[in-house]
Amino acid sequence: MATYKIALFPGDGTGPEVLREGVKVMSAAAARFGIKLETQEFDFGGERYLKTGEVLPDSAIEEFRRFDAIYLGAIGHPDVKPGILEKGILLKTRFELDQYINLRPVKLYPTVETPIKNKGPEDIDFVVVRENSAGLYTGVGGIQKKGTPHEVAIQTMVYTRHEVDRCLKYAFELTQKRNKAKTLTLCGKTNVLTYVYDLWERAFHEMGAKEFPDIKREYAHVDATTMWMVKNPEWFDVIVTGNMFGDIITDLGAMVQGGMGIAAGGNINPNGVSMFEPIGGSAPKYTGMNIINPLACIFAGQMLLDHLGETEAAACVEKACVAFLESGQLPGLSAKEIKEGGMSTTKIGDAIAKLTATV
Ligand code: IPM
Ligand code: MN
Repeated sequence: MATYKIALFPGDGTGPEVLREGVKVMSAAAARFGIKLETQEFDFGGERYLKTGEVLPDSAIEEFRRFDAIYLGAIGHPDVKPGILEKGILLKTRFELDQYINLRPVKLYPTVETPIKNKGPEDIDFVVVRENSAGLYTGVGGIQKKGTPHEVAIQTMVYTRHEVDRCLKYAFELTQKRNKAKTLTLCGKTNVLTYVYDLWERAFHEMGAKEFPDIKREYAHVDATTMWMVKNPEWFDVIVTGNMFGDIITDLGAMVQGGMGIAAGGNINPNGVSMFEPIGGSAPKYTGMNIINPLACIFAGQMLLDHLGETEAAACVEKACVAFLESGQLPGLSAKEIKEGGMSTTKIGDAIAKLTATV
């Protein structure tokens, strides 16, 4: 029997509530396919930081290395200054574990409403491969003469050929594996960022021509990408882009697929330990109310299983979610709709977990 060690990282706000349902569904699917999940919980987050001053010690990173994957609820606490937990926990884990891919599917599921007029599930199904280890996120730069009228602030976009190549390789391979339109779009800004995105563009075409001749290569500037994502989302199969652009366009992607309540992502190190998370925040005002939508976290669990190579169990989670959506039991994706419709976080998890036995 395949056994996997999963680090559970509930985090802040509604993180623990959604993660509980994610684990419930994942475990149900795993049991059906004879997979054993050994879990261990880590309590890092805003509460612990406020109590102890500790964010995420190096020893925790070392512990994470012993796991097959990390499953995260949410990070972000209203009483902690912005940046401390994001940088100290989320970015630290991504960087230290070299999770250089941020994989964010943008898929509209049946019955889920998109704000885009006249587009349905057949039009909205693409994946964004966001570079996750470098670019503007490296922290290269600084401030001089702070607080004076002559203050200087510099934040530099840094990419090495190696970082670009490994991200492109992942994106080309994913496009091949998806086997849909076999089209990879590089999203850049070659008309202004003439150094960094010149490197990306050259590397993109070199690798594509040499190693992936059957994959169609497209290029779109980032501003145009946001336009096409709304106007013609069906044009996209896989999009690959740098860290900052990827951060921005995947929030747009989340809205296109129905909102933060449904969007999941994976921070992936193809040769190491990867971390899966719902990409919405910790929604502190709904903490403990049992009305937050756990679907995004459940989809993150699906991605986790898929990443472990457990494709059947992963597909089972997805099918159970779709069956649940199609059953009409969900009054809406927002906490307000869930509450007013008499649903709850735990009821949603229970229903989907039950469905994993029959889908
Ligand atoms: C995300 C988030 C993070 C990012 C923040 C919280 C550091 O917005 O995962 O997209 O910018 O990567
Ligand atoms: Mn973001």
